[in-house]
Amino acid sequence: MTASETTLSGQRQDDDSSVFPLVITPDDNRMTADDSHQWIASCSDELVQRSREHGAILFRGFPVHTDQDFDAFVAAFGLTNFTYEDSLSNAVRTNRTERVFTANEAPAHVNICLHHEMAQTPVYPSRLFFFCEQAAESGGQTPLCRSDVLFRRMQQQMPQFTSDCAEKGLLYTHVMPATDDAGSGMGRSWQSTWKAATRQEAESRMQDLDYSWQWLDDGCLKVTTPVIPAVMELSDGRSTFFNQLIAAFHGWKDARNDPSKSITFGDGSELCQQTMDQVIAMAEDITFDTPWQNGDVALVDNFVAMHGRRTFTGTRKVLASLVAS
Ligand code: FE2
Repeated sequence: MTASETTLSGQRQDDDSSVFPLVITPDDNRMTADDSHQWIASCSDELVQRSREHGAILFRGFPVHTDQDFDAFVAAFGLTNFTYEDSLSNAVRTNRTERVFTANEAPAHVNICLHHEMAQTPVYPSRLFFFCEQAAESGGQTPLCRSDVLFRRMQQQMPQFTSDCAEKGLLYTHVMPATDDAGSGMGRSWQSTWKAATRQEAESRMQDLDYSWQWLDDGCLKVTTPVIPAVMELSDGRSTFFNQLIAAFHGWKDARNDPSKSITFGDGSELCQQTMDQVIAMAEDITFDTPWQNGDVALVDNFVAMHGRRTFTGTRKVLASLVAS
């Protein structure tokens, strides 16, 4: 059994780019899980390549109901798993299976701004899978934004800022708590982030990765990254705004973190609030809000598309699985 491209209201096609996201649905609604795995395995390379071209693929109507089903669906692609444990992600997460974990567990009223997953660290996944186990009562969409389209628009509308980003890179600063704080979108403790039991172990890991740091009186750890590039060149010639600028500038706010201090250019110079507001508005203007239905799976190319989370009411269970570079 096979599956084919279909259309969905709200799909975007900005400037001269390809349709976003691509939406694929089974040709026959009797498709079984085994059928779907066979179909995926038969065209996995093509699907991965199309997700790069389009930025994201939404799979709707496939027989995926549980975290185990999702694990098997992802496994059928034959890609290498990127583990949360090995990542330097700031979010608090819980694993469901070896490959599947809960997406950011920040409370429903917290809006998670657009970002490329872990682009504020030197270690990031190439792709993400999301699975809607339970759609929220209202809201809770996953906003997706084509970062290549955004970058082209930025080049036209703010050439100086765009070349500053490309040439200077960025420095990210943030404060990690002493113990996991699930109430924050960036509440992962320093012990968990650095896989360290002691301060010395954490320091040695940070030194290896060229981070600078400061221990705070309350046991928290303030870290600053080495200079991290703000723009990624893809092999097909496209450039993407591959960073966490929008999220860090706009959304890295909790009891420990002040967004205005969390990000600077690589030379330490400040980012202009007005320019950032403009970038955020430009990104919002080309964003697709994934209208989750139970059983939906999205494959997002992390180098091409940013993602986030809208606020919601009710229970929302969206699971994630990451693919190594
Ligand atoms: Fe994320």
